[in-house]
Amino acid sequence: MGMIGGGKNAFIGAVHRIAANMDGLIELSCGALSSNPETAKASGKDLFIPEDRNYGSYKEMIEAEHQLPADERIHFISIVTPNFAHFEPAMMALEHGFHVVIDKPMTLTLEEAKTLDAKVKETGLILCLTHTYSGYPMVKQARQMVKEGKFGKIRKVCVEYPQGWLSEPSEKEGNQQAAWRTDPSKSGKSGCMGDIGTHAAQLAEYIADLEITKICADLNRVVDGRLLDDDGNVLLKFNNGANGTLMASQIAAGEENALTIKVYGEKGGLEWHQEEPNTLKVKWLDAPVQLYRTGNGYLSSFAQHNSRTPAGHPEGYLEAFGNIYRNFALTLRALLAGGTPTAEMLDFPGSEDGVRGMAFIENVVASGQSDQKWYDFKI
Ligand SMILES: NC(=O)c1ccc[n+]([C@@H]2O[C@H](COP(=O)([O-])OP(=O)(O)OC[C@H]3O[C@@H](n4cnc5c(N)ncnc54)[C@H](O)[C@@H]3O)[C@@H](O)[C@H]2O)c1
Repeated sequence: MGMIGGGKNAFIGAVHRIAANMDGLIELSCGALSSNPETAKASGKDLFIPEDRNYGSYKEMIEAEHQLPADERIHFISIVTPNFAHFEPAMMALEHGFHVVIDKPMTLTLEEAKTLDAKVKETGLILCLTHTYSGYPMVKQARQMVKEGKFGKIRKVCVEYPQGWLSEPSEKEGNQQAAWRTDPSKSGKSGCMGDIGTHAAQLAEYIADLEITKICADLNRVVDGRLLDDDGNVLLKFNNGANGTLMASQIAAGEENALTIKVYGEKGGLEWHQEEPNTLKVKWLDAPVQLYRTGNGYLSSFAQHNSRTPAGHPEGYLEAFGNIYRNFALTLRALLAGGTPTAEMLDFPGSEDGVRGMAFIENVVASGQSDQKWYDFKI
């Protein structure tokens, strides 16, 4: 793996490195870890990246790695920069034959996302999009139970992602992560809906195995002077006729990462909380509530494949992130060896999820600005 972004003082790059390291399948071989060449090199030195592969810019890294003999060069590039610096390095990586892992939202605009998706299809390379929450074993279990029809036809999906960390104008007080997230030129058309609403929408579609077709959005800029939404509520309609709600907020004072989803079918439903990720609550119309727990033999092959420890040993955010990297790496390894990856290995988000995520952002912003009640989810 080569990494772009994630140097000193960055947030998610370090999480990606832990996730990639977890199963011994991936080695960090090179990096261009910051937009500032000096910081990039100092960051790479801290991580013991060899001097000749510790690059000052991503362009230098991709070109130099491309020149190396095939058995020495990296297989893939992980892009952990802010949203505005996703598209160009991702396109360049694909054009030079490297697979890509990239954080969400996939690009700055829907147009860029479609171009990137087309490039993935043209090259046949893999793009893995790190929608972290789809990596949890109990999320996999929830999806399998829905897909197996255990709840009958799905009728309602309610997802909420409240955070409180942007309750004050911390972007004006030197918080690097807040600064770019609230700047339209770096974050994109939306703040909160792009940053965490996209996670909620992806989780809803993934677990319910449905697609959003219509929305009615109310986006708010609650903190004075903020240029992008920091809060919002969206009514949803899905392609099977189900309805739902999506709430995302970064001004829900006191909340940490309280992502929660409830899905209801004709015969029962389920409930999952990211802050208690090893329990899945399953509800029945005509029977008592059940608690499914990570690490047990009664779970689906997808849930079992995505946990590492016996039941009762907590697995969490880092392991969920690790599952995305592991499935991507197992898929890549199988393909490189001329084999066929299993359905469990192939179960990670990709460029089509990235296009849907960018469409979600553009559609909720347009719906939020329109007086029309129902707004068609357009791609
Ligand atoms: N999957 C998740 O749960 C999750 C969580 C947090 C952030 N993210 C996403 O990860 C991305 C990064 O977020 P963050 O909070 O870590 O940001 P950050 O500001 O903490 O770090 C960004 C890093 O990118 C570097 N960078 C910027 N431009 C660069 C360039 N041209 N070349 C090389 N490096 C460059 C910066 O120097 C910095 O090291 C965003 O797209 C964000 O939406 C995803």
